[in-house]
Formats: sequence, structure tokens, C-alpha cells
Amino acid sequence: MVPLLNIAVLRFDSRSEIRHNMVNKITVVGAGNVGATTAQRIAEKELARTVVMVDVVDGVPQGKGLDQWESAPVEGFDTRVIGTNGYEETAGSDIVVITAGIARKPGMSRDDLLNTNAGIVKSVSEQIKATSPNAIVIVVSNPLDVMCYVAKAVTGFPRERVIGMAGVLDTARYRSFIAEALDVSVRDIQAMVLGGHGDTMVPLISYTTISGIPIRQLMGEEQLAAIVQRARDGGAEIVKYLKTGSAYYAPSAGAVEMVDAIVHDRKRILPCAAWLEGEYGMNGLYLGVPCKLGKNGLEKVLEIELTADERAALEKSAQAVREPMSVITL
Ligand code: NAI
Ligand code: 2OP
Repeated sequence: MVPLLNIAVLRFDSRSEIRHNMVNKITVVGAGNVGATTAQRIAEKELARTVVMVDVVDGVPQGKGLDQWESAPVEGFDTRVIGTNGYEETAGSDIVVITAGIARKPGMSRDDLLNTNAGIVKSVSEQIKATSPNAIVIVVSNPLDVMCYVAKAVTGFPRERVIGMAGVLDTARYRSFIAEALDVSVRDIQAMVLGGHGDTMVPLISYTTISGIPIRQLMGEEQLAAIVQRARDGGAEIVKYLKTGSAYYAPSAGAVEMVDAIVHDRKRILPCAAWLEGEYGMNGLYLGVPCKLGKNGLEKVLEIELTADERAALEKSAQAVREPMSVITL
């Protein structure tokens, strides 16, 4: 009897601590694959009192929101999930995650989504600016780095409050492939993938360690190169399997890791798309760099030492972001 009682007391304690740290409202725009999974993960972690899903399709956010809320008694969360086609219910959100837009189909690159998604992210950003002027915005829609620029330009929010999710996903893919190859826990793989969210992303081999052991001590160059390439092609690999859409379990996990860092003021160091103001010698674009995330959103961009090859790769990646950025009109 006594051990059971202890377990009950522990559960109660840890849950009340989580409640204490939740924010009032998080909005997820787009109730598709990434958006709905993101909303569900936020609710299950009780990161907000209310999660609002917004989508243009009548009935879909309402139905998915209700379905998720009906899972609450089983999963044991008190976060209220609702769905809507308007922005009234989103007013005063602490955090907004933008996943609205079209996704890749086989044969499409992320840049093929440019014009359609720029129009969608523009209209969403106007609504966020009007209804949640103090929100921290996490952009997920593709092409990621350019959509972050659209959201920042349209909302006029400072760079601290418009951050992009891609590096966490790209790094998670890279870490999962390394863990699999070495047959070790994913928990012990420390790594960082920088640059734009595209074929030019930059996995930092010099910072990849297994419990602090540099990866080159445990893996040969050929195997490492194959893993780097697989991480770069990670999005396309899933699109090829799914045929009608793109990845969403790992992307939503990436977005929620960023939400969690902000809600709990964790000061996590995560690779995120940040608006550069001189860091790495670059200005006026979003690029994946090491970021400190806390209650204020982006609290610092960390400038780390790079090898000559890594720096050249980062600059090439920046060029691949500047090109689509230059053709969109806002
Ligand atoms: P999806 O097609 O399943 O969902 C997109 C949803 O956006 C749809 O329900 C659609 O009705 C909605 N939508 C369209 N216009 C809207 C508007 N103006 N306001 C509100 N909702 C609107 O697509 P999925 O798989 O959820 O992907 C969403 C976006 O995220 C895509 O652009 C995709 O490429 C991107 N993505 C980015 C990743 C990253 O690492 N940054 C990873 C995975 C996906
Ligand atoms: C991905 O990397 C399509 O950007 C999306 O899965």
C-alpha cells in the first residue's frame, strides 16, 4: 500500500508544477498535419491553459480541436483545445505557431511553395499583429527562412518575437541517424545543424559528439558523409514515402520543443532560424544559427567558431535563402 501512495503523491506534485508554468493561450495557425499534431503535443504537455487552432477550412479546426479535447480525460491534461476559422478566439495569445500553407508533394522543393505560402503567411501575420500584438511567433511554414522574413516584415515584431523552426528538426534527423548507426541512445548525441532549411543546410561535424566524444573517434568519414547527406535529404525521404504530403511528427516535436523552452523560460540553446543583425558577418536575413530561447523568445544568437569549410557552407546556404527572398513582394 505504501509504495502506491507514494506514486500518487509524486504524480500530483509534478503535475501541479507543470500547471504553474503554463501560459494562458497558444494559437496554432493551420490545422493540417503539422498544426494539429503541434496542438495535440502542446495540450498533452499542458504548456497553455488554452490552445486555439485556426484554419480556413470550415469544420476542420473545430472537429480536430474537439477530438483532441475529448482525449483530455484519457491523457490527463486540462489544457482546453478549441478550433475556429477566425481570429477572435486567438486574441491575446502568448505564442502563435504558424503552420498554415501548402506542403511539399513528390518532386517539389520547399522553394516551389514560395508564392502561395508567402500570400498565406502574409494574411496570417496581419491577423496576428491585429489580435495578438505581444505574441512570440514561431514560423514553421515553408520555405521556412523566407516565411520567417514575411512574418517579421508584416507583423513588425522585433526579432526576439519572430523565430523559425527548422534547425531543431534537421538536427533531430541527423541525431536519430547517428544514434541508429552507432546503436546508442539518441539522448547521448549532441549536434547542431545550421543554415537555411533546404539542401544547403550545414550539419556541424566539428560540434557533433556522443556524450562529449567527438564523432570522428567513433565513426569513419564515409559513414559520416552518408549520414550528413541523409539528414539534408530527410524531408524529401519522408515526402517520397507519404506521396501526398510531408513530415509532421518530427516537425511538430521540433516546434513544441521551442514552445516548451519559451513557456518554461528554460534558456535552451537550440538551432533556430533567427533574423541576423551582424552575427556571422551577415545582415538582413533569417538563417539557422544557435539561439538561446527563454520567456522573451529569442534571447541571444550565439556566435560560435566554425571551420573554414563550415563557414563557407553557411555563406552558401545564406545565398540560397537570399535568392527566393529577393523575388517576393509584400
Ligand atoms: P497541411 O496541408 O497538412 O496543412 C496546412 C493547413 O494550412 C491546411 O489545413 C490548410 O487548410 C491551412 N491553411 C491554408 N491557408 C490558410 C490560412 N490562410 N489560414 C489558416 N490556415 C490555412 O500541411 P502540413 O503538413 O501541416 O505543413 C504545413 C506547412 O509546414 C507547409 O508549408 C510545410 O512545408 C511546412 N513544414 C515545415 C517544416 C519545417 O521544418 N519548417 C517541416 C514540415 C512542414
Ligand atoms: C521537412 O523537412 C518538408 O520542410 C519539411 O520535412
